[in-house]
Amino acid sequence: MAMKSPLHRGGSFSSSRLYDRKWILPVSLLLTLPLLLLVLFFYSLSPFPFLFSFASFGSSTPASSLFIESKLRISATSPISSPPRLAYLISGSLGDGPMLQRTLLALYHPSNSYIVHLDREAPQEERDALKVFVENHPLFKEIENVKMIAKANLITYRGPTMVANTLHAASLLLWEGNDWDWFINLSASDYPLVTQDDLLYAFSKIPRDLNFIDHTSDIGWKEFQRAKPVIVDPGLYMTKKADVFWIPQRRSVPTAFKLFTGSAWMALSRPFVDYCIWGWDNLPRTILMYYANFLSSPEGYFHTVICNSKEFRNTTVNHDLHFISWDNPPKQHPHHLTASDFSRMVSSNAPFARKFRSNDPVLDQIDSDLLHRSPGMIVPGGWCAGKKLGENVTDSAASDPCLVVGNATDLQPGPGAERLERLIGSLLLEENFRPRQCK
Ligand SMILES: *[C@@H]1O[C@H](CO)[C@@H](O)[C@H](O)[C@H]1NC(C)=O
Ligand SMILES: *[C@@H]1O[C@H](CO)[C@@H](O)[C@H](O)[C@H]1NC(C)=O
Ligand SMILES: *[C@@H]1O[C@H](CO)[C@@H](O)[C@H](O)[C@H]1NC(C)=O
Ligand SMILES: *[C@@H]1O[C@H](CO)[C@@H](O)[C@H](O)[C@H]1NC(C)=O
Repeated sequence: MAMKSPLHRGGSFSSSRLYDRKWILPVSLLLTLPLLLLVLFFYSLSPFPFLFSFASFGSSTPASSLFIESKLRISATSPISSPPRLAYLISGSLGDGPMLQRTLLALYHPSNSYIVHLDREAPQEERDALKVFVENHPLFKEIENVKMIAKANLITYRGPTMVANTLHAASLLLWEGNDWDWFINLSASDYPLVTQDDLLYAFSKIPRDLNFIDHTSDIGWKEFQRAKPVIVDPGLYMTKKADVFWIPQRRSVPTAFKLFTGSAWMALSRPFVDYCIWGWDNLPRTILMYYANFLSSPEGYFHTVICNSKEFRNTTVNHDLHFISWDNPPKQHPHHLTASDFSRMVSSNAPFARKFRSNDPVLDQIDSDLLHRSPGMIVPGGWCAGKKLGENVTDSAASDPCLVVGNATDLQPGPGAERLERLIGSLLLEENFRPRQCK
């Protein structure tokens, strides 16, 4: 027969291999002998010869070499010797441009990092105006610590795109590689009640792993109105802004983790931001996906993550560092603050307040009485090294001492620092601190 069966071909193939193997044994011995000698040589050199022993592969193997999680640690906080640094996100929408500039000037300090964002509802001209302002400010240009998000995000009020925007800014701030200790998320209708020197001074006295986040697991009416409804945020996939839409079915309350809720304003420690962005544990990611269909996710996402992770729940301080005036019972929006709220704001000892109408007269009062800030200028601090008015300078425009940066670690705390220290002191009292964590 002309055709060979496959079996036959296989047979002839294996017989030729058998033939080849005649020289395999001597050759492989020749090859392995030097290798064996090499291993023995290094074995004798190694200061830890037991590492080569087979015993180390047995059940005595430490878990650290097997589980990836054990290699991932909470990142270290910066040394306590230098004053802390803050990273701010200041965001706004249509019409917030000028107010955002004012808030930025009131919050500026050369040690901090800033990201400003005008969402996609604001027209391009408004973003361009903000860009020109940030690019041309002599100090921002010199220190390069104010950045602007050029590809604006589409943000739906109450939708998950708000949390996505906050995470976006936080990851950019990590990516930039600047040192910072706390991440603070503000909007253009927030305003500080203390100077940055006050804030940095008060924060220099507390552990840098603390997270200021107002929270509770007593979700009350929110169980029915927030946790059970399912929403979809069109901001995730449409090019135009639209309100969230509701799915008629309702879902049950999660059992894999416990829901927490609270204020959308917070100061998060760098280790916790690292944990949320890097996701070295899967929890921040799963909870993010859960919150994609949750109404008002900014009032629950970080709260639920922090209180369900045993590494971070002991670092929570149950306060949002804001003075906010709510109706009783609270409605969707807080009151706009005016001059009649000034003394209540100050006596709250909070470092920030909201919500303010653009250029409300009370902001001028805060500027002059609490921040010592002149219109259009930066809040003075210990770092301002330029000449002051009167020191051979008569032109007030040329006399801004803060256009020259001196020693940025030289803080000059004022009465604002004392107020803030009173607030932090009471929050860290034994009866307030541990008992109010993740309850
Ligand atoms: C962050 O800031 C914005 C203001 O632009 C606010 O509406 C939002 O709820 C904040 N919080 C979070 C967790 O995103
Ligand atoms: C957190 O605090 C609780 C109670 O004070 C304690 O039992 C637990 O070990 C602490 N956890 C960590 C990770 O420090
Ligand atoms: C002001 O100018 C005079 C003379 O030019 C100089 O002697 C003096 O030191 C200056 N004062 C300050 C505070 O710079
Ligand atoms: C900067 O100021 C701090 C605090 O006042 C001081 O300890 C430090 O020595 C100063 N550094 C320089 C270079 O002057």
